[in-house]
Amino acid sequence: MLRAVDIYKSFFSGNKTIEVLSGISLSIEKGEMVALMGVSGSGKSTLMHILGLINKPDKGDIYINEERVNFNDKEALARRRNLTIGFVFQFYSLIGELNVTENVTIPGMIKNSYADTVKAKRLLEVVGLPSSMYDKMIYKLSGGEMQRVALARALMNDPDIIIADEPTANLDKTSSIDIVTSMRDINSSKKTTFIIATHNEEVANMCDRILFLSGGVISEKNS
Ligand SMILES: Nc1ncnc2c1ncn2[C@@H]1O[C@H](COP(=O)(O)OP(=O)(O)O)[C@@H](O)[C@H]1O
Ligand SMILES: [Mg+2]
Repeated sequence: MLRAVDIYKSFFSGNKTIEVLSGISLSIEKGEMVALMGVSGSGKSTLMHILGLINKPDKGDIYINEERVNFNDKEALARRRNLTIGFVFQFYSLIGELNVTENVTIPGMIKNSYADTVKAKRLLEVVGLPSSMYDKMIYKLSGGEMQRVALARALMNDPDIIIADEPTANLDKTSSIDIVTSMRDINSSKKTTFIIATHNEEVANMCDRILFLSGGVISEKNS
């Protein structure tokens, strides 16, 4: 359902060019949960941003459900991203001025101009956040609770794919396993595809497959 074909990406800093991705090809089936590992700076975020249609590759193509993504049509790209993909980030990226439920409604607001708080609360229940927290301001939550809110938000538009970039990097061991267990449950019940960049072996081992990014190319370890 998500396919990358010969993806290249370089960055220019000063008068130097660094090639971060040097011909990445991969294929992820619907309902798979895939870990992406690799040392810091190996290009995991760069690859996730391309797979998530946030950034354009220098060369190569992305296919979603066998349809080639046109990175030049900005409006179609944004629409497709909003409808197909949910994101979870290392630093949660929640809005501090809004409460828990309001944060979760945001992707739905972008899609339908309507704050579906009923659905938001249902998703907060799915990710295991106690109902006493639904009206709390974000800053009163722990890291693990914030990441649950971020996961609920990522689910708001029923995405086919959730891209999670080091979702447990700031969480303790228990919260890390809890959040990935929630992801696994959602993956089982809704067949949502997950791609999780992580340094955590335990998290990676909870996935169906582990991809390693090194030297700009992908290798696969069968778990
Ligand atoms: N926007 C950018 N401009 C310049 N260099 C970048 C940019 N984004 C990433 N890089 C560089 O690309 C490399 C890969 O970064 P990144 O994808 O963030 O790696 P990872 O997520 O695996 O830690 C690093 O050397 C980083 O400094
Ligand atoms: Mg990164």
